[in-house]
Amino acid sequence: MARGLAVMSVLLFVLATTTKADMEGRSRPNALGNSSAPTHLHFYFHDKVTSPSPSAVRVVNPPNNISLTFLGMVVVMDDPLTERPDPASKPVGRAQGMYAINIVLTAGSYNGSVVIVLGSNHISDIIREMPILGGTGHFRFARGYAQARTYFLDPNGLDAIVEYNEIVVMSVLLFVLAATTKADTQSGYGPRCSSLCNSSAPTHIHFYFHDKITGPSPSAVQVVSPPNKTSPTSFGTVYVMDDPLTEGPDPRSKPVGRAQGMYLSSDQVRIGFLQAMNIVLTAGLYNGSVITVLGSNHISDSIREMPVVGGTSAFRFARGYAQARTYFLDSNGLDAIVEYNVYVFH
Ligand SMILES: *[C@@H]1O[C@H](CO)[C@@H](O)[C@H](O)[C@H]1NC(C)=O
Ligand SMILES: *[C@@H]1O[C@H](CO)[C@@H](O)[C@H](O)[C@H]1NC(C)=O
Ligand SMILES: *[C@@H]1O[C@H](CO)[C@@H](O)[C@H](O)[C@H]1NC(C)=O
Ligand SMILES: *[C@@H]1O[C@H](CO)[C@@H](O)[C@H](O)[C@H]1NC(C)=O
Ligand SMILES: *[C@@H]1O[C@H](CO)[C@@H](O)[C@H](O)[C@H]1NC(C)=O
Ligand SMILES: *[C@@H]1O[C@H](CO)[C@@H](O)[C@H](O)[C@H]1NC(C)=O
Repeated sequence: MARGLAVMSVLLFVLATTTKADMEGRSRPNALGNSSAPTHLHFYFHDKVTSPSPSAVRVVNPPNNISLTFLGMVVVMDDPLTERPDPASKPVGRAQGMYAINIVLTAGSYNGSVVIVLGSNHISDIIREMPILGGTGHFRFARGYAQARTYFLDPNGLDAIVEYNEIVVMSVLLFVLAATTKADTQSGYGPRCSSLCNSSAPTHIHFYFHDKITGPSPSAVQVVSPPNKTSPTSFGTVYVMDDPLTEGPDPRSKPVGRAQGMYLSSDQVRIGFLQAMNIVLTAGLYNGSVITVLGSNHISDSIREMPVVGGTSAFRFARGYAQARTYFLDSNGLDAIVEYNVYVFH
């Protein structure tokens, strides 16, 4: 879409691998098991904006028609990833998100894992590099970079095939921490030392998240409607949330913070979101500190993992992961109470 785009666009993607395009065997340790050896992912990304069956749709038009760069335009994608440039070659995943993107891989030895990329993509540059902020599964605590190179652009400058090379490495420090850590250590609300005092143990934060989109005072509001009304997943819908977090599942239990940010329907087949949120803690030892989470949330999965990509105050330089489990869903499938366990090194 708008391949003439020269403006800086934020590219955000979650690379959820069910596959790994040029990986060695399943028994080979990935970068988690060898912090000196980066993992190389290679695939082709197919961005189709023309009808019928586009894989990327414009959900927000540029507010000013004069802008040559379509400044302000928002596009949501669920783009197929393949092993070769031919769209009919072996599928290895999906790129799900916005320009910001989520990339979801679906084959090979990293099947089920996710890599998250957030960066700037000036598509007229020959090679565009974007940082890898984190991942899940095999790529928990990953850092790295992605390089994108346009392989094919249709004559209208709309549909594109883009070659991606992603180099994923582990932080040596975090590798050591991860290898020596158990998931159920300190409670973030008690009068305990943070993991700064003991780098072998992550801080554990536990809370319930109340996402209410119905009724007179919703905590999450739809800000962009799905462009295709017949999409079974309301693909392209964007919600902005300011959801209360409580100690227990009861909404009246002790408030411990707010989850502020957005989630965006970014899967055309099963309901799944690109979720970007700040967990703003308002009670306990970490009152005033923020944990930033960015990841892929397929709400029908029993446990969803999203990386912690940073934080403020007590969580400066934080890395970690959040695990979400639906505790309650109302009969309309709209309002939800979700249990979160967040593990943070900081
Ligand atoms: C780790 O990577 C290095 C460099 O690629 C390699 O020499 C070494 O054999 C690897 N170790 C393991 C356990 O895979
Ligand atoms: C709208 O969604 C339906 C159902 O997913 C799909 O078959 C159709 O191709 C979509 N139309 C467009 C223009 O994207
Ligand atoms: C932009 O252009 C479209 C189509 O030409 C038009 O429908 C729309 O009203 C314009 N928007 C503004 C803000 O000028
Ligand atoms: C990837 O994993 C999913 C879930 O475990 C499985 O259903 C699927 O068949 C796997 N895909 C491949 C290509 O191995
Ligand atoms: C650090 O954590 C480990 C494992 O949980 C524990 O055995 C050790 O006593 C802790 N050390 C300090 C100084 O808290
Ligand atoms: C959290 O910190 C704010 C600002 O310092 C303070 O007003 C508030 O009372 C604190 N909340 C709790 C529950 O300690």
